[in-house]
Amino acid sequence: MSETVKATIEGKEIAFPVIVGTENEKAIDIAKLRAETGYITYDDGYKNTAACRSKITFIDGEQGILQYRGYPIEQLAEKSNFLETAYLVIFGELPTKAELAHFRELIAEHTPIHHNMRHHFEGFPASAPPMAILAAMFNAVSCYSSHLLEVDYDRETLLEASAKLLGKTSTIAAYTHKKASGRPFCHSNPTLDYSANFLHMMFSEPYKEYLGHPDVVRALDLILVLHADHEQNCSTSTVRMVGSSRVNLFASVSAGVAALWGPLHGGANLAVIQQLERIHSAGMTIDQVIDKAKDKNSDFRLMGFGHRIYKNFDPRAKILKTACDRVLDALKRKDPLLDIARAIEERALEDSYFVDRKLYPNVDFYSGIVMRAIGIPLDMFTVMFAMGRMPGWIANWQEMRQDPKSVINRPRQVYEGHTKRDYLAMDKR
Ligand code: CMC
Repeated sequence: MSETVKATIEGKEIAFPVIVGTENEKAIDIAKLRAETGYITYDDGYKNTAACRSKITFIDGEQGILQYRGYPIEQLAEKSNFLETAYLVIFGELPTKAELAHFRELIAEHTPIHHNMRHHFEGFPASAPPMAILAAMFNAVSCYSSHLLEVDYDRETLLEASAKLLGKTSTIAAYTHKKASGRPFCHSNPTLDYSANFLHMMFSEPYKEYLGHPDVVRALDLILVLHADHEQNCSTSTVRMVGSSRVNLFASVSAGVAALWGPLHGGANLAVIQQLERIHSAGMTIDQVIDKAKDKNSDFRLMGFGHRIYKNFDPRAKILKTACDRVLDALKRKDPLLDIARAIEERALEDSYFVDRKLYPNVDFYSGIVMRAIGIPLDMFTVMFAMGRMPGWIANWQEMRQDPKSVINRPRQVYEGHTKRDYLAMDKR
């Protein structure tokens, strides 16, 4: 007999079914709670609430495990690349050689943007935040492909939409950088792999082709692989929430970009570097930094530390810490911020404040240092996160759309405002 959990509410005992995931995660199914008892649950920030059932990504935060479609992130980081991982996340299986070649071709075909789209760039001021441009542009892209505004995709349409979103993200991102720096746009080169082509569009100039060092290209590709999905994080949940109204994939992804922008989510990679720079330029000692982060009278938080899910270590941070060394060695460069980051990590890991609260470096703690080494400008860091997260957003949107039981997301609330009162005329207020 399947497991149940019993609760007594106002003297009435009610049994709730328990849902068990393939990795033995357990959830209490409260679907009939309100109908049978009139009660709802309250869970600020959804810390204990599963909003969906999913087959895409598994995370065990206590053990530091992250798997896409069952494959451990460490294996994908070492052996795969971004396009193969993107295919895996979106379609559920690793591609065959022919499938990957086809996917790659489609992406190359969809990477250039419609010439009318260039006018959109011209409308933005040079100081426009890249994440604002990115969010706006995804909606703009959809205006050129009306058939992709449908919400029931078969496999071919999903392939096309995925190729379009992945391809266009790299072009929009590179063009945003060119626009902000006042440099001429650069066409994509379909012979290059995804990450190499993005760096080419970012840094090549007329008559001056940018040739990325293989370790630099690999480091960028690794960052994208590590960001490809992360189950129900703020932006992915936003994509699902928005998509649950049956709006198209492009509008849903655009909302995901907005959610990712904030410093507690994707914006943390930028906040980490800005914080490390301030620590460096102010000549703060590591003790001063740690004391400030612990001081409850200060709103200073150690950016890149702590995670809602990981309470042991973030496996992505471990991989990136090693990648920092590799890319800096390859470029024969030293970065004082890396020394500061390492010293902070070392001190924090033996400080009871961080140990007791299970605060460890997260993916953003080292990704910024890798991106700095690659030459990605600071204001483009969160755009890189968005580029990496695209497969996860697409996969989650499609999974939700394919679920015959999926309904519009509409949480409840506990109302704490005024009780009913009568309207007051202006002279009585
Ligand atoms: N520095 C100092 N103290 C911290 C930090 C930090 N980075 N993070 C959490 N704490 C403390 C917090 O003050 C609280 O202490 P107390 O129990 O005494 O009140 C306790 O740890 C629990 O914090 P919380 O805010 O309740 O934890 P949360 O699970 O709601 O928040 C977090 C997770 C990631 C928002 C938070 O750790 C944080 O703000 N970190 C810095 C920002 C950051 O690096 N964000 C990137 C997250 S990873 C990328 C992604 O997946 O989006």
